Amino acid sequence: MKRPAAPGYSAFMSSKPYAARRAQLAERLRAAGSGVALLPTAPERPRNADSDHPYRHDSHFHHLTDFDEPQAWLVLRSDGHSTLFCRPADPEHAVWHGHRLGTEAAPEVLGVDAALPIGSLNEAMPALLAGQGAVWFPFGRHPELPGQIEGWLATLRTQERRGIECPTQCRDLHPLIAEMRLVKDAGELATMRRAASISAAAHRRAMRYCAQRFRQGASAVHEYEIEAELLHEFRRHGAQSTAYPSIVAAGANACVLHHPAGPARLLPDELCLVDAGCELDGYASDITRTFPANGCFSGPQRTLYELVLAAQQAAIDATRPGLRQRDAHHAAVRVLAQGLLDLGLLSRETHGGVDDVIASAAYRAFYMHGTGHWLGRDVHDVGEYLSQGEAPIEQPDGLGGTVVKRPSRVLCPGMVVTLEPGLYVRPAPGVPERYWNIGIRVEDDAIVTDSGCELISRGVPVEPDEIEAWMRD
Ligand code: GLY
Ligand code: MN
Ligand code: MN
Repeated sequence: MKRPAAPGYSAFMSSKPYAARRAQLAERLRAAGSGVALLPTAPERPRNADSDHPYRHDSHFHHLTDFDEPQAWLVLRSDGHSTLFCRPADPEHAVWHGHRLGTEAAPEVLGVDAALPIGSLNEAMPALLAGQGAVWFPFGRHPELPGQIEGWLATLRTQERRGIECPTQCRDLHPLIAEMRLVKDAGELATMRRAASISAAAHRRAMRYCAQRFRQGASAVHEYEIEAELLHEFRRHGAQSTAYPSIVAAGANACVLHHPAGPARLLPDELCLVDAGCELDGYASDITRTFPANGCFSGPQRTLYELVLAAQQAAIDATRPGLRQRDAHHAAVRVLAQGLLDLGLLSRETHGGVDDVIASAAYRAFYMHGTGHWLGRDVHDVGEYLSQGEAPIEQPDGLGGTVVKRPSRVLCPGMVVTLEPGLYVRPAPGVPERYWNIGIRVEDDAIVTDSGCELISRGVPVEPDEIEAWMRD
């Protein structure tokens, strides 16, 4: 469908996937009886004085509407009827803030059945809820929503004596939409490939920038300068935002998992860990590379780097349809645990063999996070990690004990995961000093395919020789 040439609307996108998703959601609502789904988009968030944070839509809402203006709601009935509440078009407002789609254009542009002004929400909502068995909304995500719904239901109850039926149940909409978002369609995957390739270009730029600065005689490079290179590359390729605050960690700062880019000085003989990804058209990318600031790995840096890379390869090999999402973590942990023993970071006398290191979770002194997560509209995307169709079983809890819970979910084509093992070595007795203060993570984004997985973020070098060659040029 042709869209008006207005900011925020892609001329190439059809409203079809969005209408099809609404139809699919309506079908899921119908499967549970009659009902109506209420879905507000994200609020605008004040920053200070009269400035707001840059606006970002709600991911669920956008998945079903392709609408990125604030102050909007989708109301979807189980019979498939959709109503969008949005801000009316306003020529006065357009002078200051730009174009709004408005209620007149919304049905044709977005394919919704009706559009009403957001100001009429309280007045119109009781009638939209009337006669429905259940009200579905995302629990725990919009703090004011339960109170608003209660108010509309109270209004409806006053009309019950006139034969108007009031919904009797409130149900959580989040899992329904989360499941729909977990497996991506071809259009979503194309956007995610593009987001990953922009982020890969940004990492390449950051590596080269760093090496050049040291070649030009700099004694140090600030983390924020490297962050600026990343942001420049994201924006110049049209990415609207970062997908999450960029991590740029100089030397020992890499041992802080979520260290934000700050004023710290990266020295030439240190490693730099960069965990940064752009958001493009509502989809995240999430890449980590760790590179030597001056373009040359030292012996101990390379040794640990190669171990993390081998762990990632094991995780990649364990990412294919039919295997479970958590298998990648188990595979990576086994490689890391063996390597920690081989390199003397864990002693065999104290910790035993590789199975003991895994069972006791001794490896967690150096590797304390999971190996991956779903990736999509959100960097830590929605979707259950545990298999809902299988009974709970006893399994390792990853902390040295056991826990009874459902098995991890089986992967299928179209899911997108990150694969991100790491090692973080803080100074400690018994840990060889040559490894102190080294933090390494390698993270790539993978689409599960029919037979394995497609790494969509490998536009940036990952092998140590390739990184050194790239930084030399
Ligand atoms: N960048 C956040 C993460 O890797 O999970
Ligand atoms: Mn990640
Ligand atoms: Mn990351």
